[in-house]
Amino acid sequence: MQLLWCDSADEFSRTAADKVLEALARKPDLTVALPTGRTPLGLYAQLRARAATGQASFDRARWFDLDEYVGLDSQHPLSYARFIRTQLLAEIGVSDDHVRLLRGDASDPESECRDYDRAIAAAGGLDLAILGLGANGHIAFNEPGSDWHRTTHVTELTEQTRVANSRGLSDGESVIPRFGMTMGIGTLREARRILLLVSGEEKRAALQVLRTGTRDRNWPVTSLLRHPELTVIADSGLRSPGS
Ligand code: GLP
Repeated sequence: MQLLWCDSADEFSRTAADKVLEALARKPDLTVALPTGRTPLGLYAQLRARAATGQASFDRARWFDLDEYVGLDSQHPLSYARFIRTQLLAEIGVSDDHVRLLRGDASDPESECRDYDRAIAAAGGLDLAILGLGANGHIAFNEPGSDWHRTTHVTELTEQTRVANSRGLSDGESVIPRFGMTMGIGTLREARRILLLVSGEEKRAALQVLRTGTRDRNWPVTSLLRHPELTVIADSGLRSPGS
């Protein structure tokens, strides 16, 4: 595991963007899985800026998202598909036929998950999975106790995740769906390269568990420990274990 500490939000975003562009330079038709949340916002701003100034071309890459809420269509304000299109894909010159996002409003969510796995396989598997981290150690929507071998599936969200994801919403967690669809840990570990982004005081405990190097099913992020190409980018404020 390569662990890169960053002293500022700007350094964090630039370091993450550099990693993505390095991978893209090696393989212009890179297949990428994208996260939502606050953590990748700076990365997406960097990628938008680099596309706008012609420093990078994203048109041959293929794009997937990690997860989605069950029941939300792609125009819903809480939809992850909408977030990823608005924050990144619509701004960097990506054509629709290079994008496959989970359809939260699919009439049969389980069948949508199987279809999604087929689409990932047809694209040659994931070259790069970019991940955020939940305070409880979740990656994508793989909550504590998840089966580490699963591919894309429907999952029930924990109360902690629903509360965390309702930050800033006036209606609170009541508007966050109870179920999500997510690439499984099996899918993520198959990715040839993983970039894990860790920012925010509430991630301190999960990062600390990862740094102990012990695999623990109650901390899904530790499933990544034996991955041969895992890079972690973290706020340097999270260096000490804390109390
Ligand atoms: C959600 C997403 C995760 C993301 C997490 C952290 O639960 N499903 O993929 O990593 O939030 O979000 P944030 O970056 O806002 O802390």
